[in-house]
Amino acid sequence: MKYIYIKTWGCQMNEYDSSMITRYLEKTGEYLITQNPEKAAILVLNTCSIREKAQEKVFHQLGRWKKLKNQNPDVIIAVGGCVATQEGKEIFKRANYVNIIFGTQSLHKLPQMIKESEQNKKLIIDISFPQLDKFNHALPAKNNGYTASISIMEGCNKYCSFCVVPYTRGKEISRPSDDVLFEISHLADNGVKEINLLGQNVNAYQGPTFNGKICFFSELLRLISEIDGIQRIRFTTSNPLEFSDDIIEVYKDTPKLVSFLHLPVQSGSNKILKLMKRSYTIEEYEKIIEKLILARPNIQISSDFIVGFPGESKEDFKQTIDFIKKINFDMSYSFIYSNRPGTPASEMKDDIDLQEKKERLYILQNCINQQTMSWSRRMLGSIQSVLVEGASEQNCMKLYGKTENNRIVNFYGSSKIIGQCIPVKINKVHTHVLHGKLL
Ligand code: SAH
Ligand code: F3S
Repeated sequence: MKYIYIKTWGCQMNEYDSSMITRYLEKTGEYLITQNPEKAAILVLNTCSIREKAQEKVFHQLGRWKKLKNQNPDVIIAVGGCVATQEGKEIFKRANYVNIIFGTQSLHKLPQMIKESEQNKKLIIDISFPQLDKFNHALPAKNNGYTASISIMEGCNKYCSFCVVPYTRGKEISRPSDDVLFEISHLADNGVKEINLLGQNVNAYQGPTFNGKICFFSELLRLISEIDGIQRIRFTTSNPLEFSDDIIEVYKDTPKLVSFLHLPVQSGSNKILKLMKRSYTIEEYEKIIEKLILARPNIQISSDFIVGFPGESKEDFKQTIDFIKKINFDMSYSFIYSNRPGTPASEMKDDIDLQEKKERLYILQNCINQQTMSWSRRMLGSIQSVLVEGASEQNCMKLYGKTENNRIVNFYGSSKIIGQCIPVKINKVHTHVLHGKLL
């Protein structure tokens, strides 16, 4: 047995990819995962390039691993993920002790690549984009207790002006619907209650069916809700573009679909949305939310925001804050604009100074935090469906679980209900954590 250490940066897709790498390697019967890089014969770095100076971070990490390789020259270093796809051989030019460079679509080839690298000490590189190939080799997802994430589509054709994803993950491609349904049934048989469907734009899902037709996202949601044992369905991320009426309709008749939606708007200014090439206006976004509220009156919405995009004036930023208040977002992920080499926005003049960007981010996050707290206050006295995950870390006499809008709830209860969705009456609230009484 050889030990493998995997370091993962980035989004849920990358976490998912690392869990797949683990499964491909463990399946060979020759490798075991370790949490200690010093014990490892193979070091895998699964990189992300969505923000920050990702390339620099990669070389810092590789520098640390070089020391381990100096101690044991047989150690194999493999670099994968978005930076590997973007940089390819360039990585080897700066760090010639790297043995393997693999792209976001070559995970299943990693065991073979390691074998080759063990036999001849040359650089092995595969950053090609044969996307279906990856899905054809997909193993049933590994579940994490009562919740499991499964990838239903990958890639993105939207080419927002600031974003590297279309270049690092390739074009949108959907997994066959039967594969997805089979995998979820398998997970349900193993006790999974909550499914999180993953993809860069899940609402663009168009999975081929066994009889040569296409299964759209709304249909997929309905089919998943028919699977016995599955009690909650979530998805991330969806895009306001293509968030069509047939998907909104599902909220009317499919209670297993949670009353919570992450629908990133990015900015509240139409001028900035246009520069970002988001292909919708704030009025169109608002219309979607209005329809969603009609379909599911208690729905809560979260979003991503970018502040300090090139050309964002004080007035544009004010429009974003006004929009946050108007939609009354429950929560958000918000970021300072990061110039990504190779994207159209990188040609624009990054004209706002860093201090101003930081201030805008602070104001935005403060505003959202207040709203998160006010949503939590609204939950006081309400009865929430809670998926019980285990014993609370703060008080082992208590259990904890999660509401549909991802609030942690602590309450007294028997360990027999772990893994069930049960009603809890909320009697005390903080911003992200609630306390309640089992009904
Ligand atoms: N498909 C999703 C976005 C996935 S990328 C959508 O349509 O919204 C995840 C988030 O990272 C984005 O929503 C955006 O807020 C942020 N992001 C992407 N590129 C960025 C950049 N260059 N600078 C700052 N934030 C960025
Ligand atoms: Fe990126 Fe826009 Fe696609 S943010 S992932 S290019 S929808």
